[in-house]
Amino acid sequence: MVRFSQVQSDQVGDLAEAIKEANILKLVAHLEVSGFHLALVANKIVGFVHFSKPKKGEVWLQAMRILPGYQNSGVGTEFVEYQLIVARDMGARVVRLMTLKTNEKIQWIIGSKYGFCHSGIYLRGRRASLQDICYLHRVMVVTAEIAEEIWAFWQEDSQSLVADDYDVQSYKSFDFDDLMQWIIKRRCLVVFRQDTVDGVLLFSEQERTNELFVNRIYAKTEESLIKLLDSIGFLAAYYGYTLGISVAEDRLTEVTRRWWKEHTRQTLREFIVFEKQLI
Ligand SMILES: CC(C)(COP(=O)(O)OP(=O)(O)OC[C@H]1O[C@@H](n2cnc3c(N)ncnc32)[C@H](O)[C@@H]1OP(=O)(O)O)[C@@H](O)C(=O)NCCC(=O)NCCS
Repeated sequence: MVRFSQVQSDQVGDLAEAIKEANILKLVAHLEVSGFHLALVANKIVGFVHFSKPKKGEVWLQAMRILPGYQNSGVGTEFVEYQLIVARDMGARVVRLMTLKTNEKIQWIIGSKYGFCHSGIYLRGRRASLQDICYLHRVMVVTAEIAEEIWAFWQEDSQSLVADDYDVQSYKSFDFDDLMQWIIKRRCLVVFRQDTVDGVLLFSEQERTNELFVNRIYAKTEESLIKLLDSIGFLAAYYGYTLGISVAEDRLTEVTRRWWKEHTRQTLREFIVFEKQLI
Protein backbone atom coordinates (compact mmCIF):
# COMPACT_ATOMS: atom_id res chain seq x y z
CA MET A 1 0.00 0.00 0.00
CA VAL A 2 1.61 3.26 -1.13
CA ARG A 3 1.10 6.57 0.59
CA PHE A 4 2.11 10.00 -0.70
CA SER A 5 2.87 13.16 1.25
CA GLN A 6 4.99 16.27 1.39
CA VAL A 7 8.30 15.74 3.15
CA GLN A 8 8.15 16.36 6.91
CA SER A 9 11.06 17.66 8.97
CA ASP A 10 11.67 14.25 10.60
CA GLN A 11 11.97 12.65 7.12
CA VAL A 12 14.79 14.84 5.82
CA GLY A 13 17.51 12.34 6.79
CA ASP A 14 15.65 9.48 5.09
CA LEU A 15 15.12 11.63 2.00
CA ALA A 16 18.86 12.33 1.83
CA GLU A 17 19.49 8.56 1.97
CA ALA A 18 16.95 7.92 -0.79
CA ILE A 19 18.52 10.63 -2.95
CA LYS A 20 21.90 8.99 -2.41
CA GLU A 21 20.48 5.61 -3.34
CA ALA A 22 19.01 7.08 -6.53
CA ASN A 23 22.44 8.54 -7.30
CA ILE A 24 21.23 12.02 -8.22
CA LEU A 25 22.83 14.12 -5.53
CA LYS A 26 24.30 16.53 -8.06
CA LEU A 27 21.00 16.98 -9.82
CA VAL A 28 19.07 17.90 -6.70
CA ALA A 29 21.77 19.77 -4.77
CA HIS A 30 20.17 23.15 -5.53
CA LEU A 31 16.58 22.14 -4.76
CA GLU A 32 14.72 23.27 -1.65
CA VAL A 33 14.07 20.36 0.70
CA SER A 34 10.57 21.66 1.44
CA GLY A 35 9.60 21.25 -2.23
CA PHE A 36 9.91 17.45 -2.08
CA HIS A 37 6.98 15.05 -1.92
CA LEU A 38 7.42 11.40 -1.12
CA ALA A 39 6.05 8.01 -2.02
CA LEU A 40 6.10 5.77 1.06
CA VAL A 41 5.54 2.09 1.64
CA ALA A 42 5.22 1.22 5.32
CA ASN A 43 6.90 4.52 6.17
CA LYS A 44 9.92 3.76 3.99
CA ILE A 45 10.65 6.29 1.24
CA VAL A 46 10.40 4.49 -2.09
CA GLY A 47 10.19 7.53 -4.33
CA PHE A 48 10.27 11.28 -4.45
CA VAL A 49 9.64 14.27 -6.65
CA HIS A 50 10.37 17.96 -6.32
CA PHE A 51 7.81 20.70 -7.06
CA SER A 52 9.06 24.07 -8.12
CA LYS A 53 7.00 27.12 -8.98
CA PRO A 54 9.13 29.52 -10.98
CA LYS A 55 6.13 31.65 -11.96
CA LYS A 56 2.54 32.09 -10.92
CA GLY A 57 0.36 29.36 -12.41
CA GLU A 58 3.29 27.15 -13.47
CA VAL A 59 4.63 24.10 -11.64
CA TRP A 60 7.63 21.99 -12.67
CA LEU A 61 8.03 18.39 -11.56
CA GLN A 62 11.70 17.72 -11.09
CA ALA A 63 13.87 14.73 -10.25
CA MET A 64 11.04 12.23 -10.03
CA ARG A 65 12.36 8.85 -8.93
CA ILE A 66 10.99 5.54 -7.80
CA LEU A 67 13.79 3.58 -6.17
CA PRO A 68 14.95 0.62 -8.31
CA GLY A 69 13.51 -2.12 -6.09
CA TYR A 70 10.04 -0.57 -6.35
CA GLN A 71 9.86 0.25 -10.04
CA ASN A 72 7.49 -1.35 -12.53
CA SER A 73 4.80 -2.17 -10.04
CA GLY A 74 2.55 0.81 -10.61
CA VAL A 75 3.94 3.16 -7.95
CA GLY A 76 5.20 5.74 -10.45
CA THR A 77 1.84 5.87 -12.22
CA GLU A 78 -0.03 6.47 -8.98
CA PHE A 79 2.57 9.00 -7.93
CA VAL A 80 1.95 11.10 -11.06
CA GLU A 81 -1.76 11.16 -10.29
CA TYR A 82 -0.97 12.45 -6.82
CA GLN A 83 1.39 15.07 -8.30
CA LEU A 84 -1.35 16.47 -10.51
CA ILE A 85 -3.58 16.91 -7.45
CA VAL A 86 -0.79 18.69 -5.56
CA ALA A 87 -0.07 20.93 -8.56
CA ARG A 88 -3.75 21.91 -8.77
CA ASP A 89 -3.74 22.68 -5.04
CA MET A 90 -0.71 24.88 -5.62
CA GLY A 91 -2.76 26.90 -8.11
CA ALA A 92 -1.01 25.61 -11.24
CA ARG A 93 -2.58 26.24 -14.62
CA VAL A 94 0.15 24.24 -16.29
CA VAL A 95 2.44 21.44 -15.09
CA ARG A 96 5.74 20.80 -16.84
CA LEU A 97 8.32 18.06 -16.71
CA MET A 98 11.56 17.69 -18.63
CA THR A 99 12.99 14.31 -19.43
CA LEU A 100 15.68 12.80 -21.60
CA LYS A 101 14.39 11.99 -25.06
CA THR A 102 15.48 8.39 -24.54
CA ASN A 103 13.40 7.92 -21.39
CA GLU A 104 10.47 6.08 -22.93
CA LYS A 105 9.00 4.82 -19.71
CA ILE A 106 8.18 8.18 -18.16
CA GLN A 107 6.95 9.43 -21.52
CA TRP A 108 4.59 6.50 -21.73
CA ILE A 109 3.24 7.20 -18.26
CA ILE A 110 2.72 10.94 -18.53
CA GLY A 111 1.84 10.98 -22.23
CA SER A 112 -0.48 8.03 -22.59
CA LYS A 113 -1.93 7.81 -19.12
CA TYR A 114 -2.15 11.47 -18.15
CA GLY A 115 -2.31 13.37 -21.42
CA PHE A 116 0.86 15.44 -21.17
CA CYS A 117 1.95 16.88 -24.55
CA HIS A 118 5.32 17.89 -25.98
CA SER A 119 5.91 21.59 -25.48
CA GLY A 120 9.56 22.05 -26.22
CA ILE A 121 13.03 20.71 -26.61
CA TYR A 122 16.05 21.40 -24.50
CA LEU A 123 19.48 20.68 -25.90
CA ARG A 124 22.56 20.48 -23.77
CA GLY A 125 26.09 19.77 -24.86
CA ARG A 126 29.69 20.75 -24.72
CA ARG A 127 31.31 21.97 -27.88
CA ALA A 128 33.55 19.25 -29.19
CA SER A 129 36.49 21.43 -30.18
CA LEU A 130 37.65 25.01 -30.31
CA GLN A 131 38.72 24.73 -33.92
CA ASP A 132 37.02 26.20 -36.97
CA ILE A 133 35.88 29.34 -35.26
CA CYS A 134 36.21 31.77 -38.10
CA TYR A 135 33.11 33.80 -37.50
CA LEU A 136 33.68 35.15 -34.04
CA HIS A 137 35.05 38.50 -35.17
CA ARG A 138 31.86 39.24 -37.07
CA VAL A 139 29.71 38.85 -34.01
CA MET A 140 29.84 41.37 -31.21
CA VAL A 141 28.72 41.83 -27.66
CA VAL A 142 26.73 45.00 -28.01
CA THR A 143 26.65 48.23 -26.07
CA ALA A 144 23.69 50.46 -25.31
CA GLU A 145 24.27 52.82 -28.27
CA ILE A 146 22.76 50.40 -30.72
CA ALA A 147 19.92 49.25 -28.49
CA GLU A 148 17.32 51.07 -30.60
CA GLU A 149 18.55 49.37 -33.74
CA ILE A 150 18.39 45.96 -32.12
CA TRP A 151 14.93 46.69 -30.82
CA ALA A 152 13.75 47.64 -34.31
CA PHE A 153 15.12 44.34 -35.59
CA TRP A 154 13.47 42.50 -32.76
CA GLN A 155 10.06 43.90 -33.59
CA GLU A 156 10.11 42.98 -37.26
CA ASP A 157 10.94 39.37 -36.64
CA SER A 158 8.06 37.78 -38.53
CA GLN A 159 10.34 36.54 -41.28
CA SER A 160 13.13 35.50 -38.97
CA LEU A 161 14.40 32.06 -38.23
CA VAL A 162 13.49 31.89 -34.62
CA ALA A 163 14.54 29.57 -31.88
CA ASP A 164 12.78 30.80 -28.83
CA ASP A 165 12.26 29.44 -25.38
CA TYR A 166 9.06 27.46 -25.01
CA ASP A 167 7.44 30.03 -22.79
CA VAL A 168 5.46 31.94 -25.37
CA GLN A 169 3.91 34.04 -22.64
CA SER A 170 7.17 35.63 -21.59
CA TYR A 171 8.18 35.94 -25.24
CA LYS A 172 5.12 38.10 -25.87
CA SER A 173 5.66 40.36 -22.90
CA PHE A 174 9.30 41.10 -23.71
CA ASP A 175 9.84 44.86 -24.09
CA PHE A 176 12.60 47.40 -24.73
CA ASP A 177 13.56 47.64 -21.05
CA ASP A 178 13.97 43.86 -20.92
CA LEU A 179 16.28 44.03 -23.91
CA MET A 180 18.28 46.84 -22.26
CA GLN A 181 18.87 44.66 -19.21
CA TRP A 182 20.51 41.98 -21.36
CA ILE A 183 22.59 44.58 -23.14
CA ILE A 184 23.76 46.23 -19.92
CA LYS A 185 24.69 42.84 -18.47
CA ARG A 186 26.68 42.21 -21.67
CA ARG A 187 24.72 39.09 -22.42
CA CYS A 188 23.56 40.10 -25.88
CA LEU A 189 25.35 39.08 -29.09
CA VAL A 190 24.55 40.66 -32.41
CA VAL A 191 25.53 39.77 -35.94
CA PHE A 192 25.51 42.35 -38.75
CA ARG A 193 24.96 41.88 -42.46
CA GLN A 194 25.60 44.80 -44.75
CA ASP A 195 25.78 47.08 -41.72
CA THR A 196 22.36 46.20 -40.41
CA VAL A 197 21.44 43.87 -37.60
CA ASP A 198 20.74 40.41 -38.96
CA GLY A 199 20.62 38.36 -35.79
CA VAL A 200 20.48 38.64 -32.02
CA LEU A 201 21.24 36.14 -29.28
CA LEU A 202 20.57 36.57 -25.57
CA PHE A 203 22.31 34.31 -23.11
CA SER A 204 22.80 33.81 -19.40
CA GLU A 205 25.15 31.96 -17.11
CA GLN A 206 23.80 29.25 -14.86
CA GLU A 207 26.53 28.96 -12.25
CA ARG A 208 24.74 26.08 -10.61
CA THR A 209 24.94 23.82 -13.61
CA ASN A 210 28.05 25.42 -15.07
CA GLU A 211 26.13 26.23 -18.17
CA LEU A 212 25.82 29.00 -20.72
CA PHE A 213 22.19 29.09 -21.60
CA VAL A 214 20.80 30.48 -24.86
CA ASN A 215 17.59 32.22 -23.86
CA ARG A 216 16.66 33.75 -27.21
CA ILE A 217 18.09 33.54 -30.68
CA TYR A 218 16.75 35.34 -33.72
CA ALA A 219 18.29 35.59 -37.16
CA LYS A 220 17.06 36.58 -40.56
CA THR A 221 19.36 34.25 -42.43
CA GLU A 222 20.80 30.81 -41.80
CA GLU A 223 24.28 32.25 -42.14
CA SER A 224 23.69 34.65 -39.26
CA LEU A 225 22.08 31.97 -37.17
CA ILE A 226 25.16 29.77 -37.57
CA LYS A 227 27.47 32.67 -36.76
CA LEU A 228 25.63 33.35 -33.54
CA LEU A 229 25.64 29.68 -32.57
CA ASP A 230 29.33 29.41 -33.40
CA SER A 231 30.14 32.40 -31.26
CA ILE A 232 28.21 31.31 -28.23
CA GLY A 233 29.61 27.80 -28.68
CA PHE A 234 33.08 29.25 -28.70
CA LEU A 235 32.48 31.34 -25.59
CA ALA A 236 31.10 28.34 -23.76
CA ALA A 237 33.99 26.10 -24.75
CA TYR A 238 36.55 28.77 -23.96
CA TYR A 239 35.26 29.33 -20.45
CA GLY A 240 34.60 25.64 -19.82
CA TYR A 241 30.83 25.86 -19.82
CA THR A 242 28.31 23.41 -21.17
CA LEU A 243 25.95 25.03 -23.62
CA GLY A 244 22.19 24.77 -23.23
CA ILE A 245 19.26 25.92 -25.31
CA SER A 246 15.59 25.57 -24.70
CA VAL A 247 13.29 25.96 -27.65
CA ALA A 248 9.70 25.47 -28.69
CA GLU A 249 9.51 22.47 -30.96
CA ASP A 250 7.80 24.22 -33.83
CA ARG A 251 10.33 27.04 -33.67
CA LEU A 252 13.40 24.89 -33.60
CA THR A 253 14.79 25.31 -37.06
CA GLU A 254 16.57 22.47 -38.74
CA VAL A 255 19.64 24.70 -38.77
CA THR A 256 19.77 24.95 -35.01
CA ARG A 257 19.30 21.25 -34.61
CA ARG A 258 21.91 20.42 -37.21
CA TRP A 259 24.43 22.82 -35.70
CA TRP A 260 23.88 21.43 -32.25
CA LYS A 261 24.32 17.85 -33.38
CA GLU A 262 27.47 18.62 -35.31
CA HIS A 263 29.23 20.73 -32.73
CA THR A 264 28.35 18.90 -29.58
CA ARG A 265 28.15 15.44 -31.02
CA GLN A 266 30.14 13.72 -28.33
CA THR A 267 28.14 15.13 -25.49
CA LEU A 268 24.79 16.15 -26.88
CA ARG A 269 21.86 15.39 -24.63
CA GLU A 270 18.39 15.99 -25.92
CA PHE A 271 15.53 16.49 -23.50
CA ILE A 272 11.84 16.91 -24.13
CA VAL A 273 9.66 19.26 -22.14
CA PHE A 274 6.17 17.90 -21.53
CA GLU A 275 3.28 19.90 -20.22
CA LYS A 276 -0.28 19.42 -19.14
CA GLN A 277 -2.78 22.25 -18.92
CA LEU A 278 -4.84 21.92 -15.78
CA ILE A 279 -7.44 24.57 -16.62
C1 LIG B 1 10.02 6.51 -14.52
C2 LIG B 1 9.57 6.01 -13.14
C3 LIG B 1 9.28 7.23 -12.25
C4 LIG B 1 8.27 5.22 -13.34
O1 LIG B 1 7.88 4.63 -12.14
P1 LIG B 1 7.48 3.08 -12.05
O2 LIG B 1 6.91 2.85 -10.72
O3 LIG B 1 8.63 2.27 -12.49
O4 LIG B 1 6.32 3.02 -13.20
P2 LIG B 1 4.99 2.15 -13.21
O5 LIG B 1 5.27 0.78 -12.69
O6 LIG B 1 3.89 2.89 -12.56
O7 LIG B 1 4.64 2.15 -14.76
C5 LIG B 1 5.51 1.68 -15.70
C6 LIG B 1 4.80 1.72 -17.04
O8 LIG B 1 5.76 1.96 -18.05
C7 LIG B 1 5.76 0.86 -18.95
N1 LIG B 1 7.17 0.69 -19.33
C8 LIG B 1 8.16 0.07 -18.66
N2 LIG B 1 9.31 0.16 -19.36
C9 LIG B 1 9.03 0.87 -20.48
C10 LIG B 1 9.79 1.29 -21.60
N3 LIG B 1 11.09 1.01 -21.69
N4 LIG B 1 9.17 2.00 -22.56
C11 LIG B 1 7.86 2.30 -22.49
N5 LIG B 1 7.08 1.90 -21.45
C12 LIG B 1 7.67 1.19 -20.46
C13 LIG B 1 5.20 -0.29 -18.19
O9 LIG B 1 4.66 -1.26 -19.06
C14 LIG B 1 4.13 0.41 -17.38
O10 LIG B 1 3.03 0.73 -18.17
P3 LIG B 1 1.64 -0.11 -18.08
O11 LIG B 1 1.14 0.12 -16.69
O12 LIG B 1 0.77 0.50 -19.13
O13 LIG B 1 2.01 -1.53 -18.33
C15 LIG B 1 10.64 5.11 -12.48
O14 LIG B 1 10.82 3.96 -13.26
C16 LIG B 1 11.97 5.80 -12.24
O15 LIG B 1 12.18 6.41 -11.22
N6 LIG B 1 12.90 5.69 -13.23
C17 LIG B 1 14.21 6.30 -13.15
C18 LIG B 1 14.18 7.81 -13.14
C19 LIG B 1 13.31 8.42 -14.17
O16 LIG B 1 13.28 8.03 -15.30
N7 LIG B 1 12.57 9.49 -13.80
C20 LIG B 1 11.66 10.16 -14.69
C21 LIG B 1 11.59 11.58 -14.54
S1 LIG B 1 12.87 12.46 -15.25
